[in-house]
Amino acid sequence: MLNKLLFHNFPNIKSWLTRLQYEMVSTIDRDKNAIFMNFGYTAHHQGQEPLPLKAEDEIHRYPMQLYHHVAKAIDWSGRDALEVSSGRGGGASFIMRYFKPRSYIGVDFSSRAIEFCRNQYKLDGLKFHHGNAEALNFPDNSFDVVMNVEASLYYPNITKFFEHVKRVLKPNGYFLYTDLRYEEKIQIWHAQLKAMGLKLIKEEDITENVLKAMELDRERRIQLVKKYVPAILHKQFYHFAGLSPDSPNGLPHLDNRRYWYFVMQKE
Ligand SMILES: C[S@@+](CC[C@H](N)C(=O)[O-])C[C@H]1O[C@@H](n2cnc3c(N)ncnc32)[C@H](O)[C@@H]1O
Repeated sequence: MLNKLLFHNFPNIKSWLTRLQYEMVSTIDRDKNAIFMNFGYTAHHQGQEPLPLKAEDEIHRYPMQLYHHVAKAIDWSGRDALEVSSGRGGGASFIMRYFKPRSYIGVDFSSRAIEFCRNQYKLDGLKFHHGNAEALNFPDNSFDVVMNVEASLYYPNITKFFEHVKRVLKPNGYFLYTDLRYEEKIQIWHAQLKAMGLKLIKEEDITENVLKAMELDRERRIQLVKKYVPAILHKQFYHFAGLSPDSPNGLPHLDNRRYWYFVMQKE
């Protein structure tokens, strides 16, 4: 309830609290376990083959599968990509290693997350910059791909972000985008997205796939909260991790929000 109130009526306060919370994750995650911060994706229960992963990546299967689901729509070879809100860089590293674009820049407004990523990932062509999604500091027409995963819900002015995405994309460049919204805001969100003026290639409601991933990844998330978060903040972090604050072992839910995925192209 409080979360919804903040999102809808006080987006700047919500954005400020969000930054504090993500800075805190980088402070408490001493063992570098939280390199992804999304709810995840799975389609195994619908008969799809599990994504083949390297043994060391298996622990991050569900959040990695969300990146894979979003990224697999295009051919990445020779592309220059920007990820806005790259968090702790797990997705950036995954895309570089599995899809092999020419270059990939991750941007986030958490300076600790950026510092963490710069120390953690040493891959040719992968860089991280501190910056705000609503004021992207890159020239016009500079990227073939812009990625954005589970982050735009926190931006106080989504239209500014969309304008920057369109500006920095090269002609024919792709915007690969996934996020969630409260049910009553879905229509306006879709209208804002379509008002960007990019061609819509694909859109999909993936709520059921995200919920199933949250269920399958629940135990790992509970253990992360128990291990790293001071007891007084457990409820807040259970909520943050997509678990029910009072009964984290119960079925996860998205608080009446729907999760969508889009592929758009600049003409
Ligand atoms: C749920 S996390 C997702 C991170 C990453 N995409 C992932 O899936 O692991 C949301 C991220 O958005 C970032 N963020 C929120 N508001 C932002 C803004 N205005 N500009 C840049 N980054 C922002 C946060 O710091 C956080 O890293």
